[in-house]
Amino acid sequence: MSVIAQKCPEIKITVVDVNPHRIAQWNDPDLDKLPIYEPGLKEIVAEARGRNLFFSTEISQGIREAEMIFISVNTPTKTYGKGKGMAADLKYIELCARQIAEVATDDKIVVEKSTIPVRTAQTIKSILDNAGTGVKFQILSNPEFLAEGTAINDLVNADRVLIGGDHHTPEGLAAMNALSEIYAHWLPHERILYTNIWSSELSKLTANAFLAQRVSSINALSALCEKTGADVDEVARAIGADSRIGSKFLKASVGFGGSCFQKDILNLVYICRSLGLQEVADYWEQIIIMNDYQKARFADNIISSLYNTVSGKKIAFLGWAFKKNTNDTRQTAAMYVADYLLEDQANIAVYDPKVKHEQMFADMAYLASRSEDETRRLLTAVPDPYEACTDAHAIAILTEWDEFTTYDWQRIYESMKKPAFLFDGRNILDHKQLRTIGFKVYAIGKERIGEG
Ligand code: UDX
Repeated sequence: MSVIAQKCPEIKITVVDVNPHRIAQWNDPDLDKLPIYEPGLKEIVAEARGRNLFFSTEISQGIREAEMIFISVNTPTKTYGKGKGMAADLKYIELCARQIAEVATDDKIVVEKSTIPVRTAQTIKSILDNAGTGVKFQILSNPEFLAEGTAINDLVNADRVLIGGDHHTPEGLAAMNALSEIYAHWLPHERILYTNIWSSELSKLTANAFLAQRVSSINALSALCEKTGADVDEVARAIGADSRIGSKFLKASVGFGGSCFQKDILNLVYICRSLGLQEVADYWEQIIIMNDYQKARFADNIISSLYNTVSGKKIAFLGWAFKKNTNDTRQTAAMYVADYLLEDQANIAVYDPKVKHEQMFADMAYLASRSEDETRRLLTAVPDPYEACTDAHAIAILTEWDEFTTYDWQRIYESMKKPAFLFDGRNILDHKQLRTIGFKVYAIGKERIGEG
């Protein structure tokens, strides 16, 4: 919404939310207090806020005044009842639709921005059409493809914008045109794609499933590389040079995280199973199974390298966010690796340049594997990377933050217990140099050389 406000100064955008604390953060004069860290975002908010971008808790008023309403609420995996652990929880979407139905006094275009299962528009439509107020609604699907950490660039230079709607009626077409005019402020027309509403909904799940599939595919091969002496980065470069395959999303890692991949694939799997498509469901589910395997494999390697136990040993984690340039930790591989090591009674010291310390404890509480007291006894959040590594038996790189490559690794080595182990879960460091210093290095998808 901030980018739309920046690019369309003549359109008034009001972002409404039930959470007054959240809205207060968005209105904070100190732009470093915005609730999301995203490169380039605060500059855009500074430019548009108070001009044509507003943040408010006045939801009913926001609905009444708007001609177009974007539903952008959370659709997490269900944690209860039917579809628990698999299906998307549409509670918040439904509440939004009901509130719109209740308070709208004139015709509206309602845009689904949240990621949702295919055919959700039908639910929204049925609630809106039965409001009994005579107000007419046009429903569009306009999934968001931005990735965190690069969100502004992904929006400003979007590969495509997808608009799903009812192109069989003049009202449906008019609504699609109205939305497309917004994006046409900064994107060429050929990048705006029109589909029926169901294709648009399904395309979002499919895009995430394909992206995650690439990561799981290269991660599966990383295990094979470690056993054969092939180098996963060389394999990725070799296959990525084939223009049919392409070079992006082939970076082997400790496992993908983030709020989307796992949730959307589970949702896709659930939909397939519900429709009796067992083989299709199993096929996509394997991506998650492989990702879980990769995280466990990384943690397992730490334990087996440290002579089969990490009990009482200090392990330094560099990075906690699910990727660099974000403070988001949802489904981060770091918390699963931590969980595995804490099970073996490791002492973990975590440094991350952007993640708040309390967030790490909240993530561990979410896994619910042990009491909070025990977690706080075994895991500490440290504000300085050198301090995190001091007296550590091993360092694990969990996030690919650029600053990790600039550290004084000689100094770090000297401060550690020996042998000093380093597990690079992102393959971002200069392993040859680290080995020269004296580190015992384990890297994803690389042959283990120089280790006795
Ligand atoms: C993803 C999609 O990319 C985006 O289009 C969608 O709108 C939301 O979900 P996001 O989760 O923000 O975006 O980040 P992304 O860059 O896709 O990374 C997801 C995870 O995969 C991260 O943990 C990342 O580290 C990992 N990853 C990505 C790899 O391990 N290797 C890669 O080559 C790429």
